[in-house]
Amino acid sequence: MKVLNFFSELNFLSQFSNLKFKKTRLIISVFFVNLSAGLDILIILIFSKFFSDQISGDYWIVETILSNLYLFPLVVFLRFTFFYLDKLNQINFKESINKDLKVFTLKELYLNGRYSLSDTFFYVNNVSGHVSYFYSSLIQLINSLVLFLIYFSFLVFADIELLFLMSIIGLLLFLPTRFLIKKSSKYADISYTTNKKIVGEIQRIIDNLLLIKVLKTNNKEFEGFEKSLKYLKIIETKNQIVKDVNASFPNFSITLILSFLIAFVSILKSLTLDFLGGVIRLVQTVGQINSSLTSLVNSRVHLEKLTKLIKSNESNTDYEIKISSTLDSNALKISGVDFKYNDSEYFIFKNLKFEFQKNKHYVIVGPNGTGKSTLMGLVSGVLRPNIGAIESHSDNFAYVGANSLIFEDSVKENLVYGLAEKEFDNKTLKEYLDSFKVFEENNLDRLIDNHSVSSGQSQKISYIRALLKEPEILLLDESTSNLDEESKIYINTLLNNFSGTIINVTHNPEDFDYDLKINIGDLTS
Ligand SMILES: Nc1ncnc2c1ncn2[C@@H]1O[C@H](COP(=O)(O)OP(=O)(O)OP(=O)(O)O)[C@@H](O)[C@H]1O
Ligand SMILES: [Mg+2]
Repeated sequence: MKVLNFFSELNFLSQFSNLKFKKTRLIISVFFVNLSAGLDILIILIFSKFFSDQISGDYWIVETILSNLYLFPLVVFLRFTFFYLDKLNQINFKESINKDLKVFTLKELYLNGRYSLSDTFFYVNNVSGHVSYFYSSLIQLINSLVLFLIYFSFLVFADIELLFLMSIIGLLLFLPTRFLIKKSSKYADISYTTNKKIVGEIQRIIDNLLLIKVLKTNNKEFEGFEKSLKYLKIIETKNQIVKDVNASFPNFSITLILSFLIAFVSILKSLTLDFLGGVIRLVQTVGQINSSLTSLVNSRVHLEKLTKLIKSNESNTDYEIKISSTLDSNALKISGVDFKYNDSEYFIFKNLKFEFQKNKHYVIVGPNGTGKSTLMGLVSGVLRPNIGAIESHSDNFAYVGANSLIFEDSVKENLVYGLAEKEFDNKTLKEYLDSFKVFEENNLDRLIDNHSVSSGQSQKISYIRALLKEPEILLLDESTSNLDEESKIYINTLLNNFSGTIINVTHNPEDFDYDLKINIGDLTS
């Protein structure tokens, strides 16, 4: 069952990660592996014949090369050329999957919209890294199985009786291998959760830096972080040991058994050098099979998580507010909307109905936690209603909120962000900065980010950005919460001259002139 789940997940994920053309890569890889293994057997035969004159059969190609020895270095050269070409192909395969998956994962996380920064980093770097590793392990496994078949067939041809005896021993080795793979899978699961916890702990410290400093809880926080790292170290070490033991186990046990047979049983007297060479290669290949199986099992948990993310997004396509030309005097019409957040049972809105008239200025008030910001999310299309419809006469929205919305970029790029179609000259931008009194000195090239501007400066930049867009509908959510009195008055004057529709969520309606005041409680039932 587990194996079935595994392959259905793999198949599911392959639809998204642009793997189709990569099947060619798999075929190329198998082709090189075949050539490389064939030449390898030839080299073993030539060496055996050259040194002992005793090999398991007559091969014309061996005779030809031995009588034209200058061909021998060419065979060796070709064997390793094919080996490296295969490696090159595999590296390319892994890196291109890695790239595609990272882009794909970021888009999925964006669509989902509920992942923290640490989770996002974790998914984009760790999870998609492991999933691409999963695919390269799969190629390695297929290659090792092909190699196994080639060496096995050669040994069947060379000495079937001896091979039969060794195969029985080989089957017995399967049990410890199964045990080791299960163990490794368990460690991989623990390692996944611990790694995720660790990135969460980093975010916890960075997010609450100020509080941690003020309350002097830094030692406790660092201790927790170190404890998780210590635990991870133990698990990773154990997993690495299990992986290494599993990879070398076939080699170790077969060599040990051979040494026993040579020491105590005469059965191996008829052993030829080429058979021995073949056995060594076969056993190495079994080691590779074990190692790629362990890698596959280790990446399984990441494959599952990514599949889960995609499945949870399936109903979650980008939501667009319907643009309607039949709204007459209305700017926005909300009809029969129910809404609850995904991870909650509680409906914030039930049968929400409202019509915002065109070019009127609304103020929305109400106690904390009653759904004002949620309403703004719904009317801007950031949140999707569970049922009901939202229509708008235009898709030209702008938004100013309480939180800092500054990109790590120049002042200019921050002001004109999202306004690519319009060209603004530096003079206009500077005039805006001057009239809003954002900086002491106006330098449009100055690099800023969320931490290098004050909360009030950030709100002023958001206002300029919103006004430059000349929106039809302006959404404001505690948009002046960080501004000084003079700036609030200035902004109120600007808003009074704004000819479009304003929906302004605020706890300070007295700071604004408005046409209509709505209590959020009147909209919900
Ligand atoms: N992302 C979220 N996931 C789950 N519940 C949420 C989420 N965001 C808000 N809520 C819940 O939805 C309710 C409404 O929140 P909202 O932010 O809309 O309130 P608000 O009226 O804007 O409050 P405030 O005046 O404090 O800004 C709250 O009970 C809140 O706990
Ligand atoms: Mg709010």
